[in-house]
Order: sequence, then structure tokens, then C-alpha cells
Amino acid sequence: EAEQRPAQKQRLECEEPAKITHRLQYPSLNNSPRPPLFQHPNQLISFSYSSSHHQEFTNVALKYFVDPPPSADLSFRYESWIKRPESRGRLDSLLSACLRDEVKMDLSRAGIVSWRGVVTKILTAPYEERDGWELNVMSVNGTIYLEEHLSEEKLKEKEDMAPRQRLQSYYGYAFESYCTSSTPEPSRHPKGWGGDINTNVQWCSVVKTKLGDNRMIIGGEVDCVRGNKYTGQPDTFVELKTSMAIRGASDEARFEKKLLKFYFQSFLLGVPEILVGFRTPAGIITTIQSFKTIQIPRLVRGKPGAWDPNICLDWGTRFIAFLKSLLNDTDAEGVHERHEKQQRVWRVVFTPKSGVEVFLLDRDDLEEV
Ligand code: A3P
Ligand code: MG
Ligand code: MG
Repeated sequence: EAEQRPAQKQRLECEEPAKITHRLQYPSLNNSPRPPLFQHPNQLISFSYSSSHHQEFTNVALKYFVDPPPSADLSFRYESWIKRPESRGRLDSLLSACLRDEVKMDLSRAGIVSWRGVVTKILTAPYEERDGWELNVMSVNGTIYLEEHLSEEKLKEKEDMAPRQRLQSYYGYAFESYCTSSTPEPSRHPKGWGGDINTNVQWCSVVKTKLGDNRMIIGGEVDCVRGNKYTGQPDTFVELKTSMAIRGASDEARFEKKLLKFYFQSFLLGVPEILVGFRTPAGIITTIQSFKTIQIPRLVRGKPGAWDPNICLDWGTRFIAFLKSLLNDTDAEGVHERHEKQQRVWRVVFTPKSGVEVFLLDRDDLEEV
């Protein structure tokens, strides 16, 4: 047995060459950097997912805002929820949008293509204290594509949500139902219910924008438009959110922290308004408050749950520059030569309070991507 050990060790060493890892250090949260310019998002195209989650380039899934009834019960019709299975957040449908004639031109000039949820995770990373994340990253014709990487375990964890958590997740969708109608002229259910929930159905907007020098194409779901008016641009978009009613100072600080994610989620698509329904633990809406997205940073400044959007934007710009220099460096070390340049898939690993690490996936990893 003793004789076998060195041989085994040697074999392992041959098969697993050390991964070359590149690191980007976590930013300091103390000083406010000068923020890069962020160009106002411009919609390029929109699309819908049908009740079977089939993508179509129409606005059939677009919803119109209506005032919710007082004291709406968010557990209403819970048993009828058609829940879309958890999925990996692949870029496929965003890519098919990018290949349409309306978008082709902008795609050829884009530095970054991704979902809004991924870009939100990147930008809010400086303040994330709990949840790490991983991305798959590819560079094709000078454009960097980013998608979330979820391991089998993580996916299963999400799918096997605890009953309590599953109900709370339903509350958010129920609020959407009370606040929206499929037509500009609503014919309302007596309880103000907008219709049973099928989370396969989504309406998505794909926008172009610019962070510093980086042209980006970002796709994301939009909850509804205000004033029965769809202009083809984000100016009437509304993001709907639910949150626990605030009963004291610590609740308030918690809510202010949450506003960071609400803010960037909406900011990235140019959504000007966030409507929050505050609820009891049992899912009864108590109050509704509308926030103007651009005013949110001022609202939290100097408060216990404060955050500074400039830190996020500056970090995001440095994160993109770091990826660009890494992925576009054709003289990368020897280990990279095994791959055709265009087939390279990189993995970004974010660890809270530490920073990000990036390495090139090898063939074995790629089979699991
Ligand atoms: P709330 O945010 O009001 O709780 P979105 O707000 O992004 O439009 O998402 C709609 C709803 O989907 C959320 O409503 C929440 O209920 C649910 N949801 C979104 N992300 C989730 C997650 N990571 N886990 C569980 N539920 C989630
Ligand atoms: Mg939504
Ligand atoms: Mg929402």
C-alpha cells in the first residue's frame, strides 16, 4: 500500500495541472469614487414567454398597471400556482433576441451581453455579505457573454424550497397579479385579482446602455407599464415589489439595505418607478409606496442601512476592464493553447467580502457547463 501512494499522487498531478487563477480584490467601502458615466438605457427589442415558456417576439405577455385593492390577500389562489421549474439562467433567448435584425448592429458593437440579474449581482457585490455566485464567461468576436453558473446542488436547493419560503415567493407574484391587467382596459375580478399565476409567462425588455466605455446589451423581465401606455421605451416601466411592513428602526435599516438590489435591478433597464407593497407576515398588504428609482440613493444616504451606488458602479467598471484584459489577451499562458480561442469558457467565482477569482475551464469542466 505504501508503495502505491507516490504513483497515485504522480498520476493526479499529471491529470490536474494547476489552474491559473486571476484575482480582483474587493473594493474599499470607505471612500466614494467618482462614478463612471451610465448611459440611459434604450430598448432595442422586447419579447414574451408563453404559458409553456416558449419565446416569441411579441408583446402578448406585457401587463398594464392597475391600482391593487386595499388589504389584498397575497395567499389567494396559492394552490393554483403553475410554477416554472428552476432553471440555469442560460443566455439562449437573449441571444436569439440579439440575432434579430433590430439588434444585430448593436450586438456587433457591444462589449458585454448578459441578463439584468447577472449585472445586478456584479454591481451589488461590494455590499453582498452572504451569497456568493459563479459565472460562465465567453468572448466571441470581442463581445463578452456572461451567464450564471449554478451547480447541480444549488439548482436542487432552489427547486426544493421550504414550504414557508415557497409561499413567500408566491406573495410576490400574487402582488403582481393584483397590480396588473393583460389589457389597457381591465375587466376586474370582484376581489381585484388579475388572474391566476403561471410563472412561465414573462415579458422581457432588451436594452442597450453604456457603463463608462463599455457598451452593454442587457435583457430582463419587466413587471408592467404605467398609464396604459407602452411607448417601446422604458419610460413607463414599473417594477413591483413586496416587502415586510416596517415596524421599527431595525426593520427600516433592513429595508434600506434591500433597496440596493431594488435600485440596481431597475436602474439597469431604465425602469423609472418601483412600487412596493408592504405586507404582514401572513401576506396581507398594508400600505403601498411608490419610489422614483433615481431618488433611491439619496433616500438611503447617511442612514443605518446606507450604501453608495458610486462604489458599485466603479467596481463594476473595474470588473469589466479586468475581464476584458484577461479574455482578450491572446498571449495567455501555455495552458490556454489547448483551446480554440473562441471555445474558451472562463469561470468567475465571487466570494463575499473577498473578491472575484477567474480561471479557464478545462475540458472536464466544460462537460458540466
Ligand atoms: P418580490 O420581489 O415582491 O418578493 P421580481 O420582483 O424580480 O419581479 O420578482 C418577482 C417575484 O419573484 C418576487 O417578488 C419573489 O416573490 C419571486 N422571486 C424573485 N427572486 C426570487 C428568489 N431568488 N427566490 C425566491 N423567490 C424569488
Ligand atoms: Mg418581475
Ligand atoms: Mg417585481
